[in-house]
This record gives sequence, structure tokens and C-alpha cells, in this order.
Amino acid sequence: MTTPASATPANPVTGRPEWRALQDHCEQIKGRHLREWFADDAGRGERFSASAVGWYLDYSKQRIDQHALDLLLVLARASGLEQRIAAMFRGDAINTTENRAVLHTALRAPAGTPLVVAGHDLTPEIQAVLSRMQRFAECVRSGRWLGYTGKPIRNVINIGIGGSDLGPVMAYQALRHFSAREINFRFVSNVDGSDFIEATRDLDPAETLFIVCSKTFTTIETLSNARAARDWCVQALGDSAAVSRHFVAVSTNAEAVTQFGIDPDHRFGFWDWVGGRYSLTSAIGLSTLIAIGAEPFAALLAGFHAMDEHFRSAAWPQNLPVLIGLIGLWNSNFLAAETQAILPYDQYLLRFPAYLQQLTMESLGKSVTLDGQPVNYATGPIYWGEPGTNGQHSFYQLLHQGTRLVACDFIGFCRSLNPLGDQHQWLMANLFAQSEALAFGKSAAQVLAEATPPALVPHRVFPGNRPSSTLLAEALSPQSLGALVAMYEHSVFVQGAILNINCFDQWGVELGKALASRIAAELSAPAEVAAIDAHDSSTAALIRRYRQWR
Ligand code: F6P
Repeated sequence: MTTPASATPANPVTGRPEWRALQDHCEQIKGRHLREWFADDAGRGERFSASAVGWYLDYSKQRIDQHALDLLLVLARASGLEQRIAAMFRGDAINTTENRAVLHTALRAPAGTPLVVAGHDLTPEIQAVLSRMQRFAECVRSGRWLGYTGKPIRNVINIGIGGSDLGPVMAYQALRHFSAREINFRFVSNVDGSDFIEATRDLDPAETLFIVCSKTFTTIETLSNARAARDWCVQALGDSAAVSRHFVAVSTNAEAVTQFGIDPDHRFGFWDWVGGRYSLTSAIGLSTLIAIGAEPFAALLAGFHAMDEHFRSAAWPQNLPVLIGLIGLWNSNFLAAETQAILPYDQYLLRFPAYLQQLTMESLGKSVTLDGQPVNYATGPIYWGEPGTNGQHSFYQLLHQGTRLVACDFIGFCRSLNPLGDQHQWLMANLFAQSEALAFGKSAAQVLAEATPPALVPHRVFPGNRPSSTLLAEALSPQSLGALVAMYEHSVFVQGAILNINCFDQWGVELGKALASRIAAELSAPAEVAAIDAHDSSTAALIRRYRQWR
């Protein structure tokens, strides 16, 4: 959706002269091909790039010129981005619909950096939880934490969903190379019992530790799986006292944790100013800490922090999160790209696209402004993706020759953690080749010159001019992963600030939850009591069919 030309001047986003200027400029340049831009400017590849905190960003293959970038920077300034960044780091309640501060950046600030919010220094509490996490993780890793029957822990299962799952599973997969191989790590999230059953079927309860992660400790999926885990454990070990050796919780809700039966001393807390999708560096990262140990975990936090500082202080033309955010806005709101593909050329980043999906789509999937006014512009592109090269043999056909414009982010590392013959070279050759093919394509004249039968020419033409950025780092490490995640976190913030939406609430998940609770009761109630007909005819028919067939 592009912005209607009739946007009222009063509109705080599309009514801005800076927004209008960008629309006008976009009209002028959107017909230009990347081939022309590169032909006109031999230095484009180097000039449209920036690097910081070990990451190199090449955005020269975006359909953008210097003037568009300058206008975007002006728009960001006019939108108050600078003030909003300051407000976030300061601890203002910028999550206005929940009246909460947004301080995930405080979680990774080095010890001894005071952060006083409402007269209260948050740092000592943050560091105290981190120290407890470190001690506990060390106990589990060293085999000193014993299960109820005296056996050391060999399996760690994280139970959680959304931000209480995607961060832990993404980080574990990403950092598996650095993990304690003598411990199995598994992640259960879905309320579908198959998730729990498959995760536990070959495990010994006496050697299994559950980390129940839930900010609210009210989430149906997580509590259902936690109850299943408790039953599985108590049944096998024959005593409910076993829970205390096999369960820990990560939650802000101390009361609910205790009610569930988890020892209050085995709760790792965090705070309402940490959003679920921004919680990886809170105690939600406990499974990651157990997996990789204290020093690499500190390096992960340091990577996050270095990117936080870069975001806060670097000049915007060289500021990676600002650039990524502005390019995202350009593609989505001016070039009308509806989706953004995340294409990591690293098997360890298997779950990174799914992680970014929650981060970006829960944050930016809003249709009212901070003041509750309906927006008249696109928000929240659809994020999706797969690690390369698998995607190449699946959906890249559409990226190259389909009718839709898909913006792509390629992510790669110059050194492999698992060198195997020349395979890393092939992996990276594919990354570079794909971005080149997307940008430059292959014209009909080139195809014809290859002696292609004329009837086949249209089928073999690649239009090119498909925008992409490439992010490169030397190697995947805790530090580079932390910086990468923080880079995307802040790029979301940049987009949210300019679009004037709240990227820290998620009211859109509530209705489905409420309806599911009501329907769950109707699925189990006797036919004469279940108020099925109160639903619309489609939902009622589905419920009846389910009751008949189950
Ligand atoms: O339903 C969405 C959501 O609220 C996410 O924002 C959150 O990460 C997830 O559920 C899990 O919530 P909790 O950690 O409270 O169980």
C-alpha cells in the first residue's frame, strides 16, 4: 500500500513535508534500474556501505540513491527519532498503552553502569539476577546440580512460547557450536501435545531439568506443557518433592510460580520493562547460559551492548540499525514491497528468521498511531525466510522472476565454524551470486546471445532490480550474534518511531486467546449445554464437525 496522495497535512506521518518529498523523489527514481546506478557510479558498492561492531552492511543493491537516503535521514530527524532514542535509553514509559518503560538495553549494560529510573538504580538487581543465573548454570554444567535421585542433569528442556521460546531456541541453535555437548537442549512451545511427547520420549526424567519460561506465567500453552512436564516427572520419580530438583522458572510473576509448585528460590525474575520479544538477554536466556557457559554468555551480552552504544551514539549515515530501519521503511512504504525475506547463509541461524518474525511483526503490525488514530500508510512488512542455500531450491524462483517485489537481507560469515572441504566457499559464492542475480538479472539480449531458442527467451529473462542488503561478519560467535540481534531490534525501533506506532505492545494477540478459552469450554461441554450456535455459522459448523469426528 502506498500512501494516498490525499493524505491530510495534519497527518503526523504522511502529512510531513519530508514524507511528501520522499514520495516525489520515489516517483522520479523508481523506474531506474540498479544496472544504471552501478554503471553510473563505480564506487557505489563501497559508498553505500557501513560497518560497526564487527558487521559490514552493504546496501548498495537497494533501489536507493544518495538523495533518497538524505531525505530519509531528514524524515527520521523530523519524526523525533533522536528524542525517542534518548527517551528509551532513559527509561521513559514509551510503551504508552501499557505505561511501561522499555529497557532491554539495560540488561546488557556492563556491571557498574548505573541506570536510575524514578529514583531507583536498576543495575544492582539486574546484576544480582545475572550472578544467580551464572551460579546455577555452572552448577548444572559441572554436574553438581543433582536430580531427585542423585543423577546429574543431562537434558535441559525450555518450556515457553513466543519471546519465551524463540529467543532461547534461536540462540541455542545459533551458538550450538559453543555449547556443552554432554547436555541435550530441547525446546517445547506448542500446546499440541506432540511437541512435549516428542521432546521427552527418549529422555530419563531423573536426568532432566525443565526451565519454565513465561513472563506472565499465565500463558495457556506454557502452563499446559509445564503441567505435562510435572506429571511426567512426578510419575516417573514417584514423589512430588522431585519438582524442586527438576523445575526452575523464569518469570516476573512470583506468586504464580509458587502456586505452580516451583520453589521460589528457583525462580529467576525479570521486570515488566522487558518485552517478551526483547527478553533474550534477561533471565529468559538461562538455557543459553547453561548451554554456552558464563564467559561466552558475557560475550553475547557485550555484543548486544556494543550495538546498543553504536545505535545510541553513531552518526546516522553510518548507524547500522538506523540504516536498516530506513531502508526497511523505504522498501515497504515507498517501493511498496510487502515482504522482507531474511536469508542467513549459515545453518546455525536456522531459527533466526522465525525469531525476527516475532520481533518485527509483533512490534510493527499495528494500524493505529500512538494517539490511537488510524494510519493511512503501510506498517509492518511480512518477515519470513530460510537459511540459504535451501531457499534457493525452493522459493527463490519467485524472488527472481515472480511479479512481487520482495526485499531481501542476506546474512553471511567469512569463516566457517565447521570447515569441510570447499563447502564454505560454495556457501558464500551462492550468497554473493544470489544478490548479484537479483540486482542485475539477465536481459533478453543477453539470453538471446546465448543461442536460446526465441520462444524460450521470455522464460529465461531475469528482470533484476530486486533490492537486497548483505550483512557480513568474520565469524558467527556469541559477540557477533548479540550485535546482529540488537541491530535488528533497533532497526524496528527506528521504523516504529517514524511510523508513529507503539512497537512494544501486542494487543492483537488477545482476541484469539479469549475466544480460544471460550471455545475450549464448548468443545468439552455436553452438546445440550455448549452454546455452539452463538457463534457464526462457519465457526459453529467447524465445532460441530470436530465434536462429531474426534
Ligand atoms: O501472545 C503473545 C505473547 O504475549 C508474546 O508477546 C510473548 O512473548 C508470549 O506471548 C509469551 O508470553 P509469556 O512469556 O508471558 O508466556
